[in-house]
This record gives sequence, C-alpha cells and structure tokens, in this order.
Amino acid sequence: MAETKKLLKSLNGDVQTIPPIWMMRQAGRYLPEYRATRAQAGDFLSLCYNSELAAEVTLQPIRRFGFDAAIMFADILLIPDALGADLWFVTGEGPRLSTTTTEQDFGKLVHADAIHDHLAPIYETLRILKRELPAETALIGFAGAPWTVATYMIAGRGTPDQAPAHRLKAENPALFNAIIGRLTNATIEYLSKQIEAGAEVVKLFDSWAGSLKGADFTNYALEPTRKIISALKARHPNVPVIAFPREAGDGYIGFAKATGADCVALDNSVSAQWAVDNIQTEVCVQGNLAPQHMVTGGQPLIDEVLRIRETFSKGPHIFNLGHGITPDANPDNVALMIDTLRNG
Ligand code: CP3
Repeated sequence: MAETKKLLKSLNGDVQTIPPIWMMRQAGRYLPEYRATRAQAGDFLSLCYNSELAAEVTLQPIRRFGFDAAIMFADILLIPDALGADLWFVTGEGPRLSTTTTEQDFGKLVHADAIHDHLAPIYETLRILKRELPAETALIGFAGAPWTVATYMIAGRGTPDQAPAHRLKAENPALFNAIIGRLTNATIEYLSKQIEAGAEVVKLFDSWAGSLKGADFTNYALEPTRKIISALKARHPNVPVIAFPREAGDGYIGFAKATGADCVALDNSVSAQWAVDNIQTEVCVQGNLAPQHMVTGGQPLIDEVLRIRETFSKGPHIFNLGHGITPDANPDNVALMIDTLRNG
C-alpha cells in the first residue's frame, strides 16, 4: 500500500516539495499546557509513567501546531530505571541515577527481557496515541543509544565531557562492554515492544556520539546501532529507523549504510550543503535548524527555514531542529517556522 503519511513517505525515499516537519522536544516546558499537565502529574518521571497524561502532552503540540509526526512522551533514561538503576530528576538540574561502575552494581541489573513490566505504561501511552492521533500524523517511538545511556549510568548524571564513561571504558573494558551489551539487548526488546504497541517509526538518540573518536566511534556508536537495527529489521522489516549520532562530524558519512538506518538526523553543527553532498546522496536526512531560532524568531528564522528547505529539496528530507527546543523558546516562533515551511 502506498504511504500517505508525509513522514513515512520521506523515510521511504520520496522527495516532497514541502517536507514533513516535527521537532525534537516538541512536548516540553516552552508550552504552558505542558507545564500545567506536568504539575498535575506531580513531577517529570510521574508524567512519563502516567499513560493518560503522557499521551496528553504528546498530543498538545499536534493540536497546537499540526506537526506531521508525534513523538511519544517518555525519556531515554527509563531503560536504566527498568534495568534497576534508580532514577530521579532534580528540578532545574537534570537526571540523577545510582551509578553502575562495578561488577557488583552490574550484577544487580535485571536481564534485557525483564524490563517490560516496568515499561508497560510506555507501551500503553503508544496504544492510546495510536487511537487518538489524527490519521495523517505518524507516531514515533524512541530509545537512547547504548553509549549515551551508558554515560548517564556510569556518571550517575549528565556530564559535559562524558569523562566517567571514558574512564571506565579504558580501565575496565570487560565491564564497560557488558554494560553496552546489556543496553543493546534491552533496547532491542524495548523498541520491538514499542512497535507492537503502535510506533510506526523509531529513533535512536545518541546525543553524546560526538565524544567517541576513531575505533571507539565504530565500536560504541556505530556497532551497537547496527546490532539494534539489524535485530529490529529481522522482526519488523517495514518499520523505518532514524539514527541520531549527534555531533559525529565525518562519522555521519556512511553511517546509514553501515548501520541500516533509513534516515540520519543531523545536528546543527554540520552545514546543510555538506550533508546534501555527503549523506543525502545515500539516505533521507532530518534536520537541521538551530534551536536558538525558536528563541529569537524574526526574519533570520524565516530566511533559515527557506534556506534549509531549498538546500535539501532535491532529496528525501524531514524538517527538524538540530537538537531539542529549549524551555525559553517562544511558541509563536514554532508557528512561524511551520507556516514559513509550508507556505513561504
Ligand atoms: O522529544 C520529545 O518531545 C519526546 C520526549 C523526550 C524527552 N527526552 C522528554 C524530556 C525525548 C525524546 C527525550 C530524549 C532525551 N532525554 C535525550 C536525548 C536527546 C537530547 O536531548 O540529546 C537525553 C540526553 C535525555 C536525558 C534527559 N532528560 C536530560 C539530560 C534531561 C534534563 C535536561 C532538560 O532538558 O531538562 C531530561 C529531562 C526531560 N526529558 C525533559 C523533557 C520534556 C524536561 C523535564 C521537565 O519537564 O522538567
């Protein structure tokens, strides 16, 4: 059957005059209705695990802006939570986890296929969304890529340079590899269940891929992504996968071919023309407007939207930001971005 949803068409390789658009962190703190629902849930994690309210915040930006895709509301750190590493969020600071740095810590984690009871509310969120989304809106599931999730598990929090994870990789490679292996397997199980619950596309967020260099990039960004995609394709051959090896630089080149990804998401440090010449020749690309334009708006935003649309216009493209929208963004600028893309 021919695809009718704009997002799925681009992932299928179609070139569209007006590309589909969605936005990383489109459900988030820049929206007053999100802040109200989060307050109703109590806190961020309670919101993630409350299927009705998580579906509600997923739908808010669809109602307000009419994006072509909805990304289920959850977080990449729910996998370590499900594996048994304690997770909590400190308001204004970010995530905290119990650290996994010794064989003893690792021994306390559950097996990759024992995560589903804990993650059942996420699958329920997807089933609700499947029912409630407009017919033209694609539903995206996601997970963190193993390296990025491991950096949080090892450090117990976000870090500017991922130093604790790099240190464990150097000092105890057996344990480090065991953590990556467990996360790889858990991610396969998690994404498979998301697909069974209604996700039509899945995305792997490797936000810290850029700190892996040389053989480390191959072993810990590319290889786990390849394993996950190959297992998913064996089970669900028609479900497209978007890979986001953020700030990979030259590592973006050939990444889709090597991993089997159907689309590569670009951060805003790469130039659009470079991506056209080096990546869009082989695969659909997503991106890559700088999130700052959602704060500043005006003519520079309009110019950038038109420039990016034009530059990517000869191949398959999904319009998006190069990273998540920030809490200080103005929703009016989001509306302006969409109007410019569709009518400008
Ligand atoms: O994009 C979406 O709308 C879907 C939901 C989503 C969230 N996080 C919700 C969220 C997705 C896809 C993520 C991915 C995620 N989470 C990543 C990868 C993408 C990236 O941004 O690089 C990472 C590294 C995380 C881990 C995480 N979650 C951090 C470091 C933080 C704190 C920083 C921050 O932005 O506050 C979070 C919290 C978080 N995840 C929020 C949201 C809406 C804000 C929490 C709040 O409402 O208080």
